[in-house]
Amino acid sequence: MSRQTILITGVTRRVGAHLAEHLLDAGHRVIGTYRHETDALKTLTGKGLIAMPLDLLERDRLAGFADMVANWTDRLDLIVHNASIWHGDEDCAADPALATAMYTVHVTSPIELTEALQRSLPARTRDDGRADRQVVFLTDAHIDEGDPHHIHYIASKAAIESSIRSLALRYAPHTRVNAIAPGLLMFHPEDDADYRRQRLARRLLPFEPGPGVVAETIDYLMACPLINQAVIRLDTGRRWGN
Ligand SMILES: NC(=O)c1ccc[n+]([C@@H]2O[C@H](COP(=O)([O-])OP(=O)(O)OC[C@H]3O[C@@H](n4cnc5c(N)ncnc54)[C@H](OP(=O)(O)O)[C@@H]3O)[C@@H](O)[C@H]2O)c1
Repeated sequence: MSRQTILITGVTRRVGAHLAEHLLDAGHRVIGTYRHETDALKTLTGKGLIAMPLDLLERDRLAGFADMVANWTDRLDLIVHNASIWHGDEDCAADPALATAMYTVHVTSPIELTEALQRSLPARTRDDGRADRQVVFLTDAHIDEGDPHHIHYIASKAAIESSIRSLALRYAPHTRVNAIAPGLLMFHPEDDADYRRQRLARRLLPFEPGPGVVAETIDYLMACPLINQAVIRLDTGRRWGN
């Protein structure tokens, strides 16, 4: 594949950091956004990552950020909306601003950023009918299963997942829009052995896959030009009656 220019939001840790490293190692030009500087971010900049500060809670800065990207590159082949926050419903009840923040980070700002980038750095309609750009949202496989403790989080991920159809209609034929919906990818260090066992027991294939499966799916979406308005579930399949 020819060298692509890729923007990924939230590359400071875990999935975003792994994906940025994978794409840099493959020879692509990667712009990664951050709010906090981490060791992972330093490693990535050492490998050539263009790191740009972005807080998706600051909606009035999205247009300026898009202009900054356009100053740095004259093409953008792929946008990966990875940045995310994960608050439970108890925390949202105690502080309603947290629920609003999840909708801003997962829904409103990614849509507005996609629009701002299209204005500042337009994807072009090509003579061969293929898309010039792809937008991918990281959603969550629990949208189908439900989660009684994360209703706001799941609802916000469902909202952005539904938007891929409307965005793809608006942007065809110059841009295609897809989603990757992972189930469990990685445990947090604080997850104890009991929790890990219970989570894995609910899966048809009981292993912790790690972030590499997202990178493999991004490779596939980049390679296959026909996929548009698709949601790729990365959840090892659904256990009947569970
Ligand atoms: N890990 C899993 O098992 C799993 C399962 C299902 C779905 N997913 C989805 O996969 C994606 C990556 O997951 P993850 O576990 O790697 O997430 P994570 O560890 O929570 O990392 C999220 C990233 O988003 C950034 N971020 C948070 N708030 C932001 C804001 N206001 N503005 C800009 N950036 C912000 C963080 O940067 P800062 O630290 O600098 O704020 C961080 O780099 C997410 O969309 C998540 O919903 C993950």
